[in-house]
Amino acid sequence: MKQFISVNDVSNINSIVAKALAYKANPFVDKHLGAGRRIGLLFLNPSLRTRLSTQVAASNLGMEAIVFNVDKEGWALEFEEGAIMSGNTVEHIKDAAPILGKYFDILAIRTFPSLKNKEDDYSELYIHQFIKYAGVPVVSLESATLHPLQSLTDIITIQENSKLKIQNSKPKIVLTWAPHVKPLPQCVANSFAQWINAWGEADFVITHPHDYELDKRFTQGATITHTQEEALKNADYVYVKNWSTFNDYGKVYENDPSWMLTNEKLQITNNAKVMHCLPVRRNIELSDEILDSPNSLVTQQASNRVWAAQAVLSEILNSNK
Ligand code: CP
Repeated sequence: MKQFISVNDVSNINSIVAKALAYKANPFVDKHLGAGRRIGLLFLNPSLRTRLSTQVAASNLGMEAIVFNVDKEGWALEFEEGAIMSGNTVEHIKDAAPILGKYFDILAIRTFPSLKNKEDDYSELYIHQFIKYAGVPVVSLESATLHPLQSLTDIITIQENSKLKIQNSKPKIVLTWAPHVKPLPQCVANSFAQWINAWGEADFVITHPHDYELDKRFTQGATITHTQEEALKNADYVYVKNWSTFNDYGKVYENDPSWMLTNEKLQITNNAKVMHCLPVRRNIELSDEILDSPNSLVTQQASNRVWAAQAVLSEILNSNK
């Protein structure tokens, strides 16, 4: 694996899931694989799970991980080619990234979208500029439009839980929009849709209010309905996530609280397991009664972030010996 910025960098989803689960069973089996190698974790936005799980994963592989909160501690970076830097940006990515590529064997980067300009966000300029100029493998810790480490974790978690059920058919997985207090990126939803569609081992339904359509490039292959109740019928997994509008970009049109998942709604599912990437706004996106119930997979999901990161870093280390 040369880089990890989307599902397209993975040759076989089930193989990398199996690798992650093998690391979960035996975290230190490859404790020397990363010896003498260093990963830089660059954050342009806050993080709890991604930052710490990737550090733990690197440590399990014997790598040194150095975290740099670029947004708070670094010079303001310019990403546009040919920019006349008379504004707030201090250092061009053309100058910064090659240096980072000398300090680190792998660069892992978290950026977020502006949610102001769809073309800019969906061009993934930031992460592509790091790839162009760093000269070392780049891992996405969430980009402007995708969150692949989260999605790999989600499939790991679904596979773990599906083994516990007697299943004759594909699980029914529902991605449902949920209310929130502010506009959020589409990354987690886009990425989850992209991975579940690429995986191909689920009956996949997406439900959201009118006007919250996602980019068709990621949702193609899923059934889409604006009726949450219809979507939830017989669901085995319900993935709850808010996102802002894609077409009229980055807006919140309504925050209809009736879209929040409740125990009453779970009654029409197949005793579904409930997923969320976290952080979650309790009793806005998801009710206490669900988050604190045995149906909730959120802690298991977040803990699996370590094994997803470890599997990805291991693939990259093995490909770049
Ligand atoms: N799910 C996730 O990426 O969490 P953090 O933003 O805390 O890293």
